Amino acid sequence: ESRVVVAVDGTSGSGKSSTCRGVAARLGLRYLDTGAQFRAMTWWMLREGVDIHDAEAVAACAGKPAIESGTDPNGPTIEVDGVDVSVAIRSDEVTRSVSPVSTVPEVRTRLLELQREIIADGGIVVEGRDIGSVVWPQAEVKLYLTADVEARARRRAAEEGGTDVSATHQVLLDRDRIDSGRATAPLVMADGAVHIDTTPYSLEEVIEQVVGLVRVAT
Ligand code: C5P
Repeated sequence: ESRVVVAVDGTSGSGKSSTCRGVAARLGLRYLDTGAQFRAMTWWMLREGVDIHDAEAVAACAGKPAIESGTDPNGPTIEVDGVDVSVAIRSDEVTRSVSPVSTVPEVRTRLLELQREIIADGGIVVEGRDIGSVVWPQAEVKLYLTADVEARARRRAAEEGGTDVSATHQVLLDRDRIDSGRATAPLVMADGAVHIDTTPYSLEEVIEQVVGLVRVAT
């Protein structure tokens, strides 16, 4: 039973989720989507009517929602206060609001605890923005995935079924800008990370590359 930790960071829409789930399923590892945790926190704030641009208000209630992540790569789940929010956290409203919420240090500290608790047993592929740099710098394999924004917007619009490509394009760039520019745990390429630009590759090809890297490291 492998205790390897694979840390996967990168820009929004670079194919992290599909890649990580594919790799975890192939290698019999667990899967943790930390973006889903930030989305769940954001979903709860929106539902409670918290002004997500008021950092003090967000900080004051960051400890309130109980967030629980399932780690099966074939059907990851996420619950807030016992309610499955896997679908609700993908709404446009949550997608537009999640980066501002994720800049708030109290939100990050809270989720960092949950993340480290889940990762501690090992045998897991973890995706996010700060996994290799902050959450688990000791990961045996660290990856940094990017793709050209055109390719990202096309893939995302196709996934979401006919969404406007240029609007999708703008939301992706806005999230990258906020995620890379924040003071606490910004999106960066971690020391020792392998950079894969996924633009020219199919999903299967990227999964294949990553599986190869994990096998070499373990
Ligand atoms: O990966 P996903 O696009 O679902 O992430 C949603 C948002 O959550 C990101 O744009 C970022 O603002 C935040 N996030 C983060 N740190 C992580 C994972 C996600 O700040 N480790």
